[in-house]
Amino acid sequence: MAQPLIDLRLCADGAELARTAAEEFSRRAEDAIHARKRCTVALSGGSTPRRLFALLADGREPFRDRIDWRAVHLFWGDERHVPPDHPESNFRMTRETLLDAVPIPAENIHRIRGEEPDAARAAALYEDELRAFFSGSPRFDLVLLGLGPDAHTASLFPGTDAVRERERWVVAPWVEKLAAFRITLTPAVLNRAATVIFLVQGEEKAGALRAVFEGEREGERDPDRWPAQVIRPESGEVLWLVDRAAASGLEKRSGS
Ligand code: 6PG
Repeated sequence: MAQPLIDLRLCADGAELARTAAEEFSRRAEDAIHARKRCTVALSGGSTPRRLFALLADGREPFRDRIDWRAVHLFWGDERHVPPDHPESNFRMTRETLLDAVPIPAENIHRIRGEEPDAARAAALYEDELRAFFSGSPRFDLVLLGLGPDAHTASLFPGTDAVRERERWVVAPWVEKLAAFRITLTPAVLNRAATVIFLVQGEEKAGALRAVFEGEREGERDPDRWPAQVIRPESGEVLWLVDRAAASGLEKRSGS
């Protein structure tokens, strides 16, 4: 299998990272809509994407009006097992920072039903929705991912079966350290994306980023330990947008 194109771009800080991400998001949305009349995106949760979403939503910035939101379909890479108005809900975070401010049709917003009492059922419902929407191969135009201090991404946590899932598109792993279920897309879907963009900000991510990259370089891939290493699109590209603090653990390369 061909190695995916992996690019790492260093940003001075969180502001530059968000602006670079907004430019990449807008450009890929324009290209996808031009080529296929629609753009499908799986969003990441957590705190890092907030600034990106706020930039995309800000009418004073160039991004919102560049994107034909009527042709954009938004999905989530993962969700917490909570209702959509819960403070920990990734959907709520996105609604407050982006969805309420852009002209995207309600039917183009495909959220994970975190309120479903049975997390496995929430995962099954979302898989049904993905299978109906993509009818066959679930190829997102763009997947946004974050990186946890333990190198988890989406809700693919170290030591969970979800990291090795190759059949099911959505699963609901129990995450011991959170004492909670999560609902997450699996590598079976994430690795079919055209473009994956990792947003990594802050010194607390330096160790994980180093482990992910050094492991790759030394051929010591261990996705069970460093789940972000499982992200290798079969026929797509990976772009790491990283701020200086998060990159502080990476070995300097000549000329970098
Ligand atoms: C989530 C995420 C998760 C996140 C990382 C980084 O639901 O929490 O999807 O994978 O991207 O935990 O989180 P921060 O951006 O908050 O550091």
